[in-house]
Amino acid sequence: MKNVLVIYFTQTGQLSSAVKATMLPFENDPEVTIHYEQLKPLKTFPYPWSYMEFFDVFPETVHGVACELAPFSFDPDKKYDLVVIAYQPWFLSVCVPVNSFLQSPEAQKVLAGTPVVTVIACRNMWLSAQEKMKKRLLELKANLVGNITFVDKSANLVSLVTVLAFVLGGQQGRFLGIFPKYGVKEDDLRIAPSFGLKIISSLKSNNYTNLQKELVDVGAVSVKANLMLLEGRGKVLFPLYANYISKKGTAGSQDRRTRVRIFGIVLPTGILILSPIITLISRLAPLIASGKMKKEIAYFSQNSLR
Ligand SMILES: Cc1cc2nc3c(=O)[nH]c(=O)nc-3n(C[C@H](O)[C@H](O)[C@H](O)COP(=O)(O)O)c2cc1C
Repeated sequence: MKNVLVIYFTQTGQLSSAVKATMLPFENDPEVTIHYEQLKPLKTFPYPWSYMEFFDVFPETVHGVACELAPFSFDPDKKYDLVVIAYQPWFLSVCVPVNSFLQSPEAQKVLAGTPVVTVIACRNMWLSAQEKMKKRLLELKANLVGNITFVDKSANLVSLVTVLAFVLGGQQGRFLGIFPKYGVKEDDLRIAPSFGLKIISSLKSNNYTNLQKELVDVGAVSVKANLMLLEGRGKVLFPLYANYISKKGTAGSQDRRTRVRIFGIVLPTGILILSPIITLISRLAPLIASGKMKKEIAYFSQNSLR
């Protein structure tokens, strides 16, 4: 019997649909037992978010400050054969509830020496968050053997509008009747069980050497050049903005409201301006630096940390 632990957090159910679709073959396998652990912050994050709540969570998310979680139902002393960590990136970082789990003594116990597969469901920017995840898993002596990503495939500026309508306005259908529905589409989840089958086969043979390559070959990861370049800018600027806001006060404090408000305007405006420029650069880059772009895409498609 193989024991699998699935750790996940979700606000609207998008991520749980993605991870459950991936785990479907496990559910039907008599040789596998799964324990699902949904992380529950003691102070719940709101959905839909108010403008201030949403942007105020930015500095602590980027700085990796943990929140308190409800007690876990899994047994940290049990030896799991595989741990699946399903998470959303928040502001190019691991979302606070999952990051808080990664800082817990229970995570330390359950992840040391254990194979880990990460499952991400998000808008479209997960590269920097996954770099942080890789780093933390290395610190915990876990063995990251697979990464699967589900993204909103709309154009970047379209999903910028729809994600804001989704998180701030609670809009789960078509915004204004003209924009596509936000998020990972049901159609894109049809392929998820085939990712699960690849994982099961590695789990049973206890050989994960080729797992990530096999996952990439069946479309589990797609790295887009324009988004990679855009994230590169964000990765440098976000810690600076986060420090700038934190200097004025802690989470929720009145003193930092003006700076939070400014960030809430600067971020979408910055994406709006930079996105078309970077898309143009990304179209030209393969002509100028094709080798470098390919190398970068290959790097983000695998699981080691440079
Ligand atoms: C505070 C916050 C920040 C987010 N930042 C990102 C991000 O950096 N990249 C991204 O692709 N999606 C981002 N998203 C979208 C989430 O990844 C995800 O699609 C959304 O929260 C719905 O997931 P859930 O219902 O499973 O929680 C963010 C969402 C929230 C609430």
